[in-house]
Amino acid sequence: MSEMILVTGAVGQIGSELTVELRKRYGNDSVVAGFHRKKPGATLQNGPSELVDVTKKESVENVVKKYDITTIYHMVAILSAVGEEKPNLAWNVNMNGLYNILEIAKEHNMRRVFCPSSIAVFGPETPQKSTPQETILRPRTMYGVTKVAGELLCDYYFRRFGLDVRGLRYPGIISSETLPGGGTTDYAVEIFYEAVKNKRYTCFVKKDTILPMMYMPDCIKATMDLMNAPLSSLKHHSDFNITAMSFSAGELAEEIRKHIPNFVCEYTPDFRQNIADSWPRTIDDSCAREEWGWKPNYDLPSMTKNMLEKLEKRYEEGKL
Ligand code: SER
Repeated sequence: MSEMILVTGAVGQIGSELTVELRKRYGNDSVVAGFHRKKPGATLQNGPSELVDVTKKESVENVVKKYDITTIYHMVAILSAVGEEKPNLAWNVNMNGLYNILEIAKEHNMRRVFCPSSIAVFGPETPQKSTPQETILRPRTMYGVTKVAGELLCDYYFRRFGLDVRGLRYPGIISSETLPGGGTTDYAVEIFYEAVKNKRYTCFVKKDTILPMMYMPDCIKATMDLMNAPLSSLKHHSDFNITAMSFSAGELAEEIRKHIPNFVCEYTPDFRQNIADSWPRTIDDSCAREEWGWKPNYDLPSMTKNMLEKLEKRYEEGKL
């Protein structure tokens, strides 16, 4: 059976780049870009796209039937900061949306489903250094609550119905193509755009705030590698710890200054500081390494160099 893929959240930070990579691997016509409020931009015009409201089962089902979808990458989510401002919306999109996706995947005997989790599943009682795979999951954000429940729900569908659902606990994802929407780790992306455009940035967490992070090429690689791993090698399914690097906001600014010496970063923490403080500093991702061979390519210096090269080129072309 040939693969037909639906990416929900295809215009989002991760979805926009994941869809491009999936189309390279499986063919443009085999990957449907599911969007909701914002229409797909130029990079996604080379294949099918459909309006998908994940909170409405029928809306997902219509697209699944139209294209005979066999695999879903369910990238839609309300992130941590917006989730604190709109907890009802976060619950509805993150929980009811996921429930609809899992039900439809089960009913249509789908081959595989990917659902991202996040470092937001951890909370203040979790060990913050080298956070283990199996540990205390008592988040304080609505986003984190939905991600813990989501992991449990995905694993339930695997055990109870044999649906092959897989997921990663993404750290903060740094990307050059699409801005993240409403997360706590967004400063680690915004800082690059502001450094290139204005040589100044006011960061919304303190200088010494350390969080685990990953560059987008590694995020895409991890996602596709997990989805292509043989099921028999997996002991975990929807909750893999995964990381690439950890640094403080100050260390990131310092690394950028190596390329842009007159870059100035100031720190004015807001409500997102509390969220950041409740998350791990470093992550133990040995299960991902052992079960499906995870290994990142980018560290802080190589990610920073690559981000700045890409953004500076776009800035010079007047496209930033
Ligand atoms: N990047 C996300 C956020 O900050 C974490 O999963 O909400």
